Amino acid sequence: MLDWIRADISAALERDPAARSRLEVFLLYPGLHAVIWHRVAHWLWGRGLRLMARFVSEVNRFVTGIEIHPAAKIGRGLFIDHGMGTVIGETSEIGDDCTLYQGVTLGGTGKQKGKRHPSLGKNVVVGVGASILGAITVGDRALVGAGSVVLKDVPPDATVVGVPARVVRHRGVRVAAASISGATQEDPCEQCQQAFAKEISRLERRLEELEQRLSGAAKVGARD
Ligand SMILES: CC(C)(COP(=O)(O)OP(=O)(O)OC[C@H]1O[C@@H](n2cnc3c(N)ncnc32)[C@H](O)[C@@H]1OP(=O)(O)O)[C@@H](O)C(=O)NCCC(=O)NCCS
Repeated sequence: MLDWIRADISAALERDPAARSRLEVFLLYPGLHAVIWHRVAHWLWGRGLRLMARFVSEVNRFVTGIEIHPAAKIGRGLFIDHGMGTVIGETSEIGDDCTLYQGVTLGGTGKQKGKRHPSLGKNVVVGVGASILGAITVGDRALVGAGSVVLKDVPPDATVVGVPARVVRHRGVRVAAASISGATQEDPCEQCQQAFAKEISRLERRLEELEQRLSGAAKVGARD
């Protein structure tokens, strides 16, 4: 357990430019406190002490503003920066060395049972206020932009942004839509615009047709 706590403190020191010493991180970082208390709750949960585990998790939420279900599986070196409002659901899995900013939700869609929360690979960064919903997988080293809503798998080394999230970079290179398989690419606004443009040109063609027919009828009427 001490080894894991050391790794969690190192993670905060490495990833927060404002962190100055191990002691400061240990005493004053609610994200670290939440992870340490979660490790205690998870240990209790694993030994069948479910009520006690839920109690520790509840006190943890009250004190740090970070809610982590005791059954959630969290790897080494998780850094939750600030953390307030972060929610990590029961069947979530988080790989080693991930970073979550405040207000992140690893939640269910409300439609699934059993495994219904996301699995994050290693070195994943999730931006402030992002929601990752459902039993989906976020690949190693992926970046999830602030405020994104991720509903489909994210490939490793990809950056996803938006609602719903779509891939904007892969291995550091900007990517065109649909060039990464398995990722959420459809932009609902663009689809709406395309549908409107199609409908407008159909109506224009129809109007032209009617105008031609009218002027034809008017010419015949004038001759008669
Ligand atoms: C996603 C993020 C990691 C940037 O990744 P990046 O690989 O450097 O990507 P870029 O900045 O080149 O952006 C690529 C495109 O996505 C857009 N984009 C970036 N972040 C976005 C976001 N959060 N929401 C919507 N669009 C976003 C950019 O405008 C750009 O669009 P364009 O191609 O039309 O110009 C970053 O923007 C982010 O959200 N980081 C989270 C930081 C955070 O939460 N900090 C909290 C501190 S308390």
